[in-house]
Amino acid sequence: MKKISLTIDGKKVIAPEGQKVLWAALDNGIYIPNLCARREEATPDASCRLCWVEIEGKSKPVTACTETAKEGMVVNTRGAMALRLARTALELLLASNEVDCAHCPANGACELQKIAAHLGVKLKTRRFRKILRNLEVDSSNPEFVYDPNKCVLCGQCIWVCRERLGIGALGFAHRGFKRRMTTFGDEPMASSACRNCGECVAACPTGALTLKEK
Ligand code: FES
Repeated sequence: MKKISLTIDGKKVIAPEGQKVLWAALDNGIYIPNLCARREEATPDASCRLCWVEIEGKSKPVTACTETAKEGMVVNTRGAMALRLARTALELLLASNEVDCAHCPANGACELQKIAAHLGVKLKTRRFRKILRNLEVDSSNPEFVYDPNKCVLCGQCIWVCRERLGIGALGFAHRGFKRRMTTFGDEPMASSACRNCGECVAACPTGALTLKEK
């Protein structure tokens, strides 16, 4: 495959032609916050709005997961406009998320913690009014627990279940603030098409899907 050369945060990097800026950066050790991106996905959802970067010659920031890397491109992941957008997206996410790291099984391995540290945002940010969803926790599956209050709606579990495993037990339901990841017909996990493989748990970047202690 043809390679191209671009500059990210002052570092010259080589990337396969056609690759998105997000992967070009991550593959070269430059972190850009992201939750919803998947390498295999040709047309990314770009729903988390965390991966903002600035590109020389463009007047506005762009999402790195949708922007194709080009020969000679100059990317800045730490530009003021990009950081402001990413911080706002994270703070909005945290406003509807139960942030209780001390009692969360994902503590220390949660992507939200990593992103907050990278962006210099407090997990207990008070910038936006906290509105919790107070959804029921589903412990019906013998292998894992699903706590929708900790879900960031990234869709990674849905993608793995449907596209990689071909099962399709999981999907999104409702819109706006009521949007949630659930099973077909909103059945408990144990009554759904789930085969208890646990791949969704491995794909979850937060503590929304966690293995049961045995
Ligand atoms: S990773 Fe780009 S918008 Fe979510």
